[in-house]
Amino acid sequence: MQDGRTTLSKFLIDTLDRPPCTDNTRDTAGLSALLIDVAAAIKSISAMLTKGALGGNYGSAQTLNTHGEEQKKLDVSTNDIFVQQCEWDGLLAAMVSEEMEHVYPIPPEYPRGEYLLAFDPLDGSSNIDINGVVGSIFSVLRTRDPAEDASSEAAFLRPGCEQVAAGYAVYGPSTMLVLSVGNGTHGFTLERDIGNFVLTHSNIRIPEETGEFAINASNERFWEPPVRRYVQECKDGRSGCRARDFNMRWIASMVAEVHRILMRGGVFMYPRDSKTPAMEGRLRLLYEANPMSFLVEQAGGLAITGRERILDVAPRALHGRVPVILGSKNEVERIARYHGEYDRGEDKPFSSPLFGTRSLFLPDFTA
Ligand code: AHG
Ligand code: MN
Ligand code: MN
Repeated sequence: MQDGRTTLSKFLIDTLDRPPCTDNTRDTAGLSALLIDVAAAIKSISAMLTKGALGGNYGSAQTLNTHGEEQKKLDVSTNDIFVQQCEWDGLLAAMVSEEMEHVYPIPPEYPRGEYLLAFDPLDGSSNIDINGVVGSIFSVLRTRDPAEDASSEAAFLRPGCEQVAAGYAVYGPSTMLVLSVGNGTHGFTLERDIGNFVLTHSNIRIPEETGEFAINASNERFWEPPVRRYVQECKDGRSGCRARDFNMRWIASMVAEVHRILMRGGVFMYPRDSKTPAMEGRLRLLYEANPMSFLVEQAGGLAITGRERILDVAPRALHGRVPVILGSKNEVERIARYHGEYDRGEDKPFSSPLFGTRSLFLPDFTA
């Protein structure tokens, strides 16, 4: 399909609806229509965000979400847009959102379908006040058993490798929709005058090598040793064991970080830390880590907790959190190795008989 000439609808019809189905094990009937509705929600949100403070949607909603975080008015209104655009179409059985404590079953006045939608309607919402980049993230599962109560939490508690589609919208200078239905990761740019998403970035590939990493460095004292080791080595740059300089970025919006990584490579980390011992990570598995990991893997990158592939993690709670390390393959593999070495006790401070302790860690001269 040609970049710049293929609309989202044409892409989805060609990819999912036209026989012969390339993969007979996956019945994706109705999925393209569902994704068109998700795209409609994203267009509405994009239009709302573009109005900025003139839209009357700024400020706090004076409520807390299920994580105890203050909800902004836009967290609530973007959530409502997702619900309204997607509940009526007869394709969904239930929804889960960062902004709703419980599963949202499709109301009885609408037909029920077989898909499950999990979403973060506004990611990076602290950036709203500074007119910075924000996004929306979504994940689609197909119900396993039509007899199962799809409005139960159990229906959603499945590993990310079972996702049939995932994507995000990034609301930057332009609005883009990046999605995967399991055959690569593809990017569409919103043509505002006409209202179409147009394919502009087909088959995105994340470079395996990178010199860029992203982490909230203010949490450094809470990180585990393997993450501290990795970041220290990046900061040591040309004069350290990596023998080359690295660059750091932090936008405080996972969507914006992942988008950068899909465009030019890099590593994003929100690792396990000891800041809040009860939490396994900062980011939510079902509607942040899983869809982003699906997109990253479909683009040739890797996504791990540090110790396991994110898409294999069995969710235990609707709003459960997970450590996230994702991006360029070679760097993520290195970070996984550092976790392994630490867990096996091989990551010991290095002490030179001649010069005393020279490094926190065993020297590693691989570039
Ligand atoms: P949300 O706005 O949906 O709560 O998510 C924000 C997340 C994620 O997008 C970002 O990477 C991270 O929180 C930012 O965390 P810090 O505030 O620690 O920078
Ligand atoms: Mn988020
Ligand atoms: Mn959010």
